[in-house]
Amino acid sequence: MSFLTLTNIQKSFGQVQVVKNFNMNIEKGEFVSFLGPSGCGKTTILRMIAGFETPTGGSLTINGKDQSPLKPNQRNIGMVFQAYALFPNMTVHDNVAFGMKVAGKPKAEIDARVKEMLGLIRLDHLAERYPYQMSGGQQQRVALARALAVKPQVLLLDEPLSALDAKIRVSLREEIRAIQRQLGITTVFVTHDQEEALSISDRIVVMNAGKADQIGTPFEIYNTPSTRFVASFVGTLNLIEAKVVDPAANRIQIGDQGVTLKQSVQTYKAGDTVQLALRPEAGSLAEGVKSDTALTGEVVSAHFLGSVIRTRMNVGGNIISFDMFNNPGVTPPQSGESVTLRFMAADLLVIRD
Ligand SMILES: Nc1ncnc2c1ncn2[C@@H]1O[C@H](COP(=O)(O)OP(=O)(O)OP(=O)(O)O)[C@@H](O)[C@H]1O
Ligand SMILES: [Mg+2]
Repeated sequence: MSFLTLTNIQKSFGQVQVVKNFNMNIEKGEFVSFLGPSGCGKTTILRMIAGFETPTGGSLTINGKDQSPLKPNQRNIGMVFQAYALFPNMTVHDNVAFGMKVAGKPKAEIDARVKEMLGLIRLDHLAERYPYQMSGGQQQRVALARALAVKPQVLLLDEPLSALDAKIRVSLREEIRAIQRQLGITTVFVTHDQEEALSISDRIVVMNAGKADQIGTPFEIYNTPSTRFVASFVGTLNLIEAKVVDPAANRIQIGDQGVTLKQSVQTYKAGDTVQLALRPEAGSLAEGVKSDTALTGEVVSAHFLGSVIRTRMNVGGNIISFDMFNNPGVTPPQSGESVTLRFMAADLLVIRD
């Protein structure tokens, strides 16, 4: 049995069901991210795991034990929130010591543990500071140390980085991940930043309106999105409308250009419309190539982004974006120019809803 299990979890506030049959099994030591737009139920699920909200249906276990009869302080869970929730009138040392003090631990044990935790977040030298004397990034590290000090069995992080500037966010997420690995603590991390989720998670749950649309490794979520929502939420993706021409041969048509897919479209009939996804980094320009895994279109715009040039082309009414690495020896495509984009048959994914 998995370490943390959520089975058919539901939550309604009044008439509104905000979490719908949510299922997830998380292994011990795993780092799982909940990724989804604002209001999709991420915080609500974390609050149910922590015991601050009671599910209206379903069951939740940690280490095989049903959590429903347990109050938040009986669940042994560490939590870090988006806003810095440190006690403003306590020093860093006392903030980190708080949970152990409440639990009635002896002073020597508390002091040793606080020292260890502050070492872990590299803030030993700031033990006597108050929160207002520290930066946002430092305060969030203290919040992390405070959550970990009581040796929780599960760590819950609710957008802990969203109030920080971009550079600190990247370095702190790597620090959190390194500490999590070092301690082997089972962690659920909430974010609506897809790059953040892709870069640090063992697995990602992409949430859409109270349910999990897809659960998978970052590689799976990015490369083989299973729904249109996942495809458009994770990464910059081209969604292309095509017509099925010959289902048995996986032949489709985009505008008036025929393409053979790797994926099967045998469940479709000739004449059906099918949605395809193509990553902007999948193709490359190929002059004058006629192939059934190439598309020719007119350049609508080309944007120089430094290391990358992002070009948009029109293929039978579909606007397709593609990226090329900058090459000072090659002139970027010009608006109005006709170009051919070549790709692998497996790069065009069939999206089923
Ligand atoms: N106590 C409550 N009473 C009524 N509705 C609530 C309550 N808590 C949350 N909701 C509603 O439940 C839905 C999900 O909220 P939740 O906070 O879980 O979203 P979220 O995915 O964490 O969003 P965000 O990314 O903005 O933090 C929202 O529509 C919200 O208004
Ligand atoms: Mg939230």
